[in-house]
Amino acid sequence: TDTQTFSIASIPGDGIGGEVVTAGLRVLDTVAKLSDGGIAFDVTEYPWSSSYYLENGTYIPDGGLEELQKHDAIYFGAVGSAEVPDHTSLWGLRLAITQPFDQWANIRPVTFLPGVESPLRKADEADLDWIVVRENSEGEYAGMGGRNLSGRGPGNEVALQTSLHTEKGTERIIRFAFDLARTRPVKKVSSVTKSNAQQYGMVLWDEVFARVAADYPDVETESVLVDAMSAKFVLHPEQLSVVVASNLHADILSDLGSALAGSLGIAASANLNPEKRFPSMFEPVHGSAPDIAGQGVSNPIGAISSAALMLDDFGLHGEADEVRRAIEDVTAAGILPRDLGGDANTIEMTEAIVAQLEAIH
Ligand code: NAI
Ligand code: MG
Repeated sequence: TDTQTFSIASIPGDGIGGEVVTAGLRVLDTVAKLSDGGIAFDVTEYPWSSSYYLENGTYIPDGGLEELQKHDAIYFGAVGSAEVPDHTSLWGLRLAITQPFDQWANIRPVTFLPGVESPLRKADEADLDWIVVRENSEGEYAGMGGRNLSGRGPGNEVALQTSLHTEKGTERIIRFAFDLARTRPVKKVSSVTKSNAQQYGMVLWDEVFARVAADYPDVETESVLVDAMSAKFVLHPEQLSVVVASNLHADILSDLGSALAGSLGIAASANLNPEKRFPSMFEPVHGSAPDIAGQGVSNPIGAISSAALMLDDFGLHGEADEVRRAIEDVTAAGILPRDLGGDANTIEMTEAIVAQLEAIH
């Protein structure tokens, strides 16, 4: 039989990044094994991290991006260390990949798992399931602005942090959200802005949203201000299907969503270059979690679910669904990590998911 081989660049990064990436790769190994030679994953690990930066003065060495570009996908852990300012590490590694590879669509499903307690009472009554679609290339994280450190005298420093909203960037993410909504049981897109206060970029967003919506008469729409949307996440989450928002707003809302689903540790994400000119990058939503790093107790579900999103990107939807089902079966059986109130460590969680994957295959 012909083997389909997928080449993956793994970047464990800092803190718990290493252990959750190991967990996800263990699951991918199992997927390959169960395919009986149909699927193979060829994984190359890159040691780019904050300790690499402290040694070499850079997170990504010369030629590193060219090297990454040869792979079909990037599997990322987390970056962030007490020894390096957070804006240096984030711009040095994560944004240094998402920006040049034009991974403009960041998909963050909010998934409620069986057996996991949600702080939301509604989670027991309704089937909650929505996806945050984050504009991932511009907006508030465009990196534009500057500081006047000394020119105005002591105590008078000023800083400008400018948001960039282009019509093209806005339109492509909104269209992406509508196309995604069409594939879902509830065909609805909620657009999030703060256009009452931010009259330039966010009003442009609203106008583009209305224009694009006209091309999707079969999709229900609403426009909600970000402060109201944060309340809606808590009070009426059953009304959500696809939520599209700017870089900053969606970053915040997706953490809120994962906390409502039980923990940051279960949230998955995909940074997609939908044109496939560059590899896409798959990573858990959480950071390096220095408070629990090195203890082997981190929740691997966010990283494993991100690997499932990678399988989807490879067109392996059946395999991706099996991974998601194995996770649900394990949590439903009450096998839970510490952040979800259980006592399974990272390896025990991973092996339980692997065993279930083998059982249902
Ligand atoms: P964090 O996500 O690392 O941790 C927040 C809280 O959630 C902590 O109490 C942590 O123990 C817990 N947590 C996170 N993931 C978990 C998991 N898989 N299992 C169990 N518990 C988990 O966010 P924080 O503390 O704001 O940032 C820590 C560092 O990570 C910083 O340097 C920050 O810049 C960086 N960071 C990096 C990101 C990335 O690489 N994509 C994203 C967010 C933060
Ligand atoms: Mg975040």
